[in-house]
Amino acid sequence: MRAPITRLTNRLTNVSLVVITIGLVSLQLAIAKSTAQSSAVSPGSSTPGVTGRQASSAAATAVDPGIRLGAAAAGSPLPGLTSAQMAYFLAGQEEFAAAESVTEGLGPRMNLDSCAGCHAFPAIGGTSPALNPQVAFASQNGGLDHLPSFLTANGPVREARFVRNPDGTADGGVHDIFTITGRVGATGCSLTQPDFDTQLAQGNVIFRIPTPAFGAGLLEAIPDWAILANASQNAASNGALGVRGHANFQVSGRTMSGQTNNNGNDGTIARFGWKAQNKSLLLFSGEAYNVEMGISNELFQTERDETSSCQFATVPNDTTRTDAVSTVDSLSDMEKFAIFMRFLAPPAPSVDSPGGAASIGKGSAFFTSVGCALCHTPSFSTGSTAVAPLRNQKVNVFSDLLVHNMGVGLADGVSQGQAGPQEFRSAPLWGLGQRLFFLHDGRTTDLLAAILAHESTGSEANGVIKNFRSLNANQKQDLLNFLRSL
Ligand code: HEC
Ligand code: HEC
Repeated sequence: MRAPITRLTNRLTNVSLVVITIGLVSLQLAIAKSTAQSSAVSPGSSTPGVTGRQASSAAATAVDPGIRLGAAAAGSPLPGLTSAQMAYFLAGQEEFAAAESVTEGLGPRMNLDSCAGCHAFPAIGGTSPALNPQVAFASQNGGLDHLPSFLTANGPVREARFVRNPDGTADGGVHDIFTITGRVGATGCSLTQPDFDTQLAQGNVIFRIPTPAFGAGLLEAIPDWAILANASQNAASNGALGVRGHANFQVSGRTMSGQTNNNGNDGTIARFGWKAQNKSLLLFSGEAYNVEMGISNELFQTERDETSSCQFATVPNDTTRTDAVSTVDSLSDMEKFAIFMRFLAPPAPSVDSPGGAASIGKGSAFFTSVGCALCHTPSFSTGSTAVAPLRNQKVNVFSDLLVHNMGVGLADGVSQGQAGPQEFRSAPLWGLGQRLFFLHDGRTTDLLAAILAHESTGSEANGVIKNFRSLNANQKQDLLNFLRSL
């Protein structure tokens, strides 16, 4: 899929934007004119992709250096794939990028028509692009959908979940934003969108933005024992909270009490999604195909909306192609997605950008000394995985793959598996240097704001954020530079 190269005008800040082509996709990155920039940029006030702020270590106030420009640091296949594996990767990538139509089973309700539409930045497989494709999709191919207020051109791709059912019981499920009503191939189908305005007014809607799938095969291949060993090691060092030898950084009486979110089917540790709610890439692919795009498949056989006048393909919509000549062609779409993501290389960090190697090195040390690394575990190893390029590999994911209580400020009121209403998976920080929107609902584009949002009543991170606050501006800048180097 190729995004059109366009020139945009940012209505909010009226800065001109330039377009940069990176890797497989063309990316629209907003580059603020330096006039708008100073060291006084306040958290949360930035524009998606704004960069060009001073990342020098002499800043009076630490600022998010912004998106790391240059080639996309992700989106390539794992090094060392055989040519046969490469063929699967490419077939999977093509299907992942393909837009589906009504006659192929799209809908009746969906959030978009392709995986890559949402997983777009900085390359196919990633997360929200700068320009939200859902805005154009509302009226695409004859669509008659109303665009809810929480979707904007410059905002992140979002899906919506309702917290409660009308009778007050827990809902938590995804309510698809769009319908096929009016679209090509959907003659005779008339559906009403969820009443988002009323639900929003009642405070019953929460949002999720896409998580990137780079390096996802490595995540899948981390043994449970390694996750558990890391958890108990962190817990043990938590009497003095990890930062041995730095008494001034101690957080007394606090423990990181993160827990695993175990899969309901076999009891092993689930790890994908904002609440670590999903076990495997195949499961996520089947679920996303049906939930995000309305395409039923061999894992999720039933249409989520069975309105009889709105069915235009046989079910399940996606199946194994038993009549295919080649093995690759015989795979279901769902399997192709899973293999593509499994073979995606992890993001490549920069050693010297932004801010230079010395600043990044110091920032990395602060990341550990203030306690960020207690949740954002810098590295795991995979086990004896069947796929050779995934076997016994380092996984620099910067997550412990546990869910933690993040307090009332980040709470979304939704439970998934053992993850409760205030709990989230320590967000993997690899690839952060080229991420536009932060936190589960995409509430900010500013790295500093994302860090400070960890602090609220009940959050396990409060002690660590207190440590972070005690760093001086230069030290904070080193830490931000380190994060944007990932
Ligand atoms: C409308 C946007 C949208 C579309 C289309 C979409 N996704 Fe996603 N994806 C999301 C969101 C939002 C999340 C986070 C969901 C959560 O955790 O609640 C996500 C998370 C994921 C993850 C988890 C990655 C991780 O490590 O946490 C995988 C895997 C994934 N999607 C695969 C797919 C596949 C495969 C498709 C196509 C069948 C797809 N997605 C289509 C929005 C989308
Ligand atoms: C108690 C565990 C914990 C600690 C300690 C912690 N984090 Fe996090 N972090 C999380 C969780 C959980 C999320 C996801 C929260 C959400 O999206 O609501 C997160 C999200 C983030 C994000 C946003 C990533 C994204 O993709 O949106 C950044 C950046 C981040 N953390 C950096 C830090 C830094 C820097 C520190 C240290 C100052 C730190 N964190 C300390 C658990 C922790």
